[in-house]
Amino acid sequence: MEPNKRFFFSLLLLFTALYTPAQTTHTIQVQLNEPRATIRPTMWGVFFEDINLAADGGLYAELVKNRSFEFNVPLMGWKEQKKGSTGGSLLVINRGKEKENNPRFLRVKNAVTGNYGLSNEGFRGMGVEKNKYYDFSVIARSVKDAKIKMRIELVNAKGEVIGSTSVEPSGAAWKKYKAALLSNGTDQKAQLNIWFEGKGEVDLDMVSLFPRDTWKNRPGGLRADLVQLLADLKPGFVRFPGGCIVEGRDLANRYQWKKTVGNVEDRELIINRWNTEFANRSAPDYFQSFGLGFYEYFLLSEDIGATPLPILNCGMACQFNTSEVVPADQLDPYIQDALDLIEFANGPVSTKWGKLRAAMGHPSPFNLKMIGVGNEQWGPQYVERYTVFAKAIKQKYPSIQLVNSTGPYSDGELFNFLNDTLRKMNADILDEHYYKPPEWFLKNAARYDTYDRSGPKIFAGEYAAHSVGIPNGKTKNNWRSALAEAAFMTGLERNADIVNMASYAPLFAHVDGWQWSPDLIWFDNLQSYGTPNYYVQKMFSNNRGTTVVPIQMNNAVIAGQDSLYASACIDKPRNELIIKIANTFHQTKRISFVMNGSMDQNAKATMQVLRNDEMNAVNSFEQPTLIVPVNKDAEVKNKTLNTELPPYSFSVIRVKL
Ligand code: AHR
Repeated sequence: MEPNKRFFFSLLLLFTALYTPAQTTHTIQVQLNEPRATIRPTMWGVFFEDINLAADGGLYAELVKNRSFEFNVPLMGWKEQKKGSTGGSLLVINRGKEKENNPRFLRVKNAVTGNYGLSNEGFRGMGVEKNKYYDFSVIARSVKDAKIKMRIELVNAKGEVIGSTSVEPSGAAWKKYKAALLSNGTDQKAQLNIWFEGKGEVDLDMVSLFPRDTWKNRPGGLRADLVQLLADLKPGFVRFPGGCIVEGRDLANRYQWKKTVGNVEDRELIINRWNTEFANRSAPDYFQSFGLGFYEYFLLSEDIGATPLPILNCGMACQFNTSEVVPADQLDPYIQDALDLIEFANGPVSTKWGKLRAAMGHPSPFNLKMIGVGNEQWGPQYVERYTVFAKAIKQKYPSIQLVNSTGPYSDGELFNFLNDTLRKMNADILDEHYYKPPEWFLKNAARYDTYDRSGPKIFAGEYAAHSVGIPNGKTKNNWRSALAEAAFMTGLERNADIVNMASYAPLFAHVDGWQWSPDLIWFDNLQSYGTPNYYVQKMFSNNRGTTVVPIQMNNAVIAGQDSLYASACIDKPRNELIIKIANTFHQTKRISFVMNGSMDQNAKATMQVLRNDEMNAVNSFEQPTLIVPVNKDAEVKNKTLNTELPPYSFSVIRVKL
């Protein structure tokens, strides 16, 4: 090497040595015997809203769209089918008062036998699987004793028949007819055909097709794969039915739980508020059939071991839309809805609403303990209405806890007003929402460390890290967002004495029918996958623990020090220490966890790591498990666990005490 080059090379080596920090070991102290807070079973839950086709076309397994012809365009989703000369025709008839909640039915007139029919396109197609059964049903009657056989076909995207059956309505009275289809093919985009054989007229309503394999094999039930993803989270609560859907774009469009219980054919369909909300993601065929209604939400919560948390309209429509309010002296029907809901959930079967619950199949109570009053309301108009609600509910049911809105923002004038006012009113639980950039989540990991400990409890009711604006359809569930949420959630856990509940939002999105992203779980007509954000939720919820204990570095909480974020708790029933730690740095961190307190010197430990080097990495249908927790060896010696946290990683460590 020439002397000059050698000189520069040596200089470069010197610089590298000086400015690349040697891999230091961070010492983190955990105090096992200093309980700081009790972690409630409700700590990590799920937020369900019918957005992104989460209910009809999603969790509710019905495959027929517009089964009762009640969409504003009565034949939306349906098409006439004709082969050669037909002579068939359709008439939409409105029964009006005779069946107020489901007034329309379809009269089919058939002339040339077997050449005329109808098809239903499903929700962006129908997902069917080979060798699986599908249950068809229809409420029908024959007109003037016509003998018309309905030939039912499942047809794949190529137009090939992959299953068929038939029903033959008879008599002038409405009756339910059922028949099963066995599919001999798998298709995401199948459709249902109905051919009419025989001359004359037949009336149809509630044309339905369900997979037989629903969650718990309940007829007319929920999609099993989607419920399983929820069950795997072991959520502490299910918040339902939203979200802005509770408020409606206007009051007429608000969610009314009483219209979602009882026989499904009597549940009045309404437009879904997300149908028209975003011009860039418009969904003209988005309605609410309420096949998934309040009874089903309670049952779902019970099935997956979660506390039900219904949210009710408080006499206010969405303030981002019409801002309509009910005059404060005309709130009675709204308040009665709240009182009746408590009776529906908990009342004896001798009461009006308890009796309905029993008639629907659940004589024992659902054990409702909390209700949300309003969703994302703000301003003095909310306080005025909440005050009337709170008085009436607490008077009749003093033990029911009320969840309050603090508005759509986590700071600023609107937030401060409600936060101050509701605290002065001794509110039970304040619901805070934050849809923010990942950096916000990192910066705010210590948000609750300085909160008032004596005031209301906090419900982090809706949150998600949005890396590209809110919500503009461009934000993905990438690893950057999930890691930021994990870091932030260590702060929620550390403050479990006041933060009693938290839920990511929204929960579900159909790949062909979403309005809002990011979302926790994505699905198409047959498959579903959890995002990295889902696995963060799962790691927290499956490792909930019972008691927060201190975890510190340099005698301070770990909320951003050296790009680390951590919390620790004891799982009393299993007698284990659980450490959760995020490394948001681009390099490995060497850590020495020193455990102070009574435990085995050389305890057994396990470690789960969620990571990716690429912050923009996502899970997808092609790679659903690209970012999932992976087990890693861990060992405790002399009450110390030495380990390395990979770059951009979130780890959960369990130590047997
Ligand atoms: O989660 C999507 C929406 O965000 C909810 O409906 C609403 O409460 C919030 O503005």
